[in-house]
Amino acid sequence: MPIQPPHRPGDKPITILGISCYYHDSAACLVRGGEVVFAAHEERYTRKKHDEALPKNAIEHALKYAGITIDDVDAIVFYEKPLLKFFDRIIPTYITQWPLGFLTYHRAMHEWMQKKLWIPQNLKKELKYKGPVLFTSHHESHAASAYYASGFPDAAVVTVDGVGEWATTTIGRGKGTELNIVQELHFPHSLGLLYSAITYYIGFKVNSAEYKVMGLAPYGEPKYMKEMRELIEVREDGSFRMNMKYFNYEVGLRMTGRAIEQLFGQPTRRQEAPLTQFHKDVARSLQEITEEIMLKVCTHAKKLCPSDNLCLAGGVALNCVANGKVLRAGIFKNIFIQPAAGDAGGALGAALAAWHKEYGGERLPKMEHVYLGNAYTQDEIEAYLNAQGLPYEKLGDAELIETTAGLLQGTNVVGWFQGRMEYGPRSLGNRSILADARNKENWQKVNLKIKFRESFRPFAPTVLEEKVSEWFDLDRESPYMLLVADTRPDKRELIPAVTHVDGSARIQTIRRDQNPRYYDLIKAFEQKTGCPVIINTSFNVRGEPIVESPKDAVNCFLHTHMDILVMGNCLLRKEKMPESVKRDTEAYLKQFQLD
Ligand SMILES: [Fe+2]
Repeated sequence: MPIQPPHRPGDKPITILGISCYYHDSAACLVRGGEVVFAAHEERYTRKKHDEALPKNAIEHALKYAGITIDDVDAIVFYEKPLLKFFDRIIPTYITQWPLGFLTYHRAMHEWMQKKLWIPQNLKKELKYKGPVLFTSHHESHAASAYYASGFPDAAVVTVDGVGEWATTTIGRGKGTELNIVQELHFPHSLGLLYSAITYYIGFKVNSAEYKVMGLAPYGEPKYMKEMRELIEVREDGSFRMNMKYFNYEVGLRMTGRAIEQLFGQPTRRQEAPLTQFHKDVARSLQEITEEIMLKVCTHAKKLCPSDNLCLAGGVALNCVANGKVLRAGIFKNIFIQPAAGDAGGALGAALAAWHKEYGGERLPKMEHVYLGNAYTQDEIEAYLNAQGLPYEKLGDAELIETTAGLLQGTNVVGWFQGRMEYGPRSLGNRSILADARNKENWQKVNLKIKFRESFRPFAPTVLEEKVSEWFDLDRESPYMLLVADTRPDKRELIPAVTHVDGSARIQTIRRDQNPRYYDLIKAFEQKTGCPVIINTSFNVRGEPIVESPKDAVNCFLHTHMDILVMGNCLLRKEKMPESVKRDTEAYLKQFQLD
């Protein structure tokens, strides 16, 4: 039975605060009267990438944005069930594996006793909150974040990640306001953990750099499928079993060990050690098995929950190459992928699940954008620049678009800081670094002089939605950079900076109603050049969270070789910056952990 809304004077909307934290990528989401009012990652405020802390800053900004206090919140919803995770999975796993994992046991126990077991008490104390604290299961949060935001009247809902309480993969059925998980696979059998384990084995950071492995895969051949099938047995319905003799993640400090090194015949690569063809071939083989499993799971989901519509969430749903394969297989007519598909999106899912299941709320329209964080006014931006003594040009709206579009031609790299910050891992035109996709040199320039990262990773293009089919093999929107499709063969040489070695591109489409200023900029660029495509990458350096404030944006601008910074209606040119503000790049980079 839905909870009856508490009696309040006036007609204040039901206000729900969703929270995900204490693992990685913590976030908060405020839903009022069924509308997603605000959502943001904590890392953007604390400047600590993948911050797992209670998202106090994100909550503070959410309440401020809505003009309310914590006393106006009717319920806080936590994105997973910590007691179930602790007593049902974590403790029994350590007992069955004892004495293996003694060290991790101690570390884990300390963490759990400190904060994770006392979540309602901690939230009430830390946030000075007096109302109820509700819980949804981890995969229910993922499923809700995709289905309730999709606008579909019904859908099959697939979630795939590392692990929640027990579940690692689920299939659910959504119809109207009802959403039920009908089948699930359990830990330790996990596609997300397989991906993370191989990420670790080939020398990248777990829970952080899986997307790099996906970017590396097109440079390799699937030469290690036999070894992959030794690691994981895949059945026709997409269910699978891991061969646990190769993995340590149940209780160990590391994801894998000697057994996997013997299987592949190579040692685990150290971070920053050279990447060889072997690592590329392993990455490609991993990508192949991931795609095979995703296709089979989605085919099975269609049988279990017949519908034209598919919703996807969970960390593996950020694998946009696999998503593109699922789309092209034509199993479903329509696909909605939650843009915050990882655990940060659990905050949104938890809040929406409570809105429907606890409060009996109506369905929302489709989530059309992710500009859900905080914004800075023109006055605030100018005040910051004036206080820093930085020279800038203040331009009118039309002039700003025209001038920036002109500057974007050629080799300039432009920091673009506008409006509300994006929710989810991608910069989608409000906290972005932009450059001309026609210029191949920009690939190297942005990678090495701005991002300070390896050069194998491709850049994503933003394309005007009405032009997507002319330039890419895609017949629909892809507003969140979650679908990969081929650049049309006749266009590949025109936009080399966003076309991967295999001819593919990770596409963001943009419509004017989603982000007028960003759309107008690309439209103006197209009018000047005939090309409706630009490079869009996140506004940060390697290892740094995406910029949140004018201060962060200016810091990144001054410490890198970025040529232009556009914030609100202010335009800054590097060549006009006084010598006194030139900063030490090395020192700046050192404060961020490598991922
Ligand atoms: Fe998850």
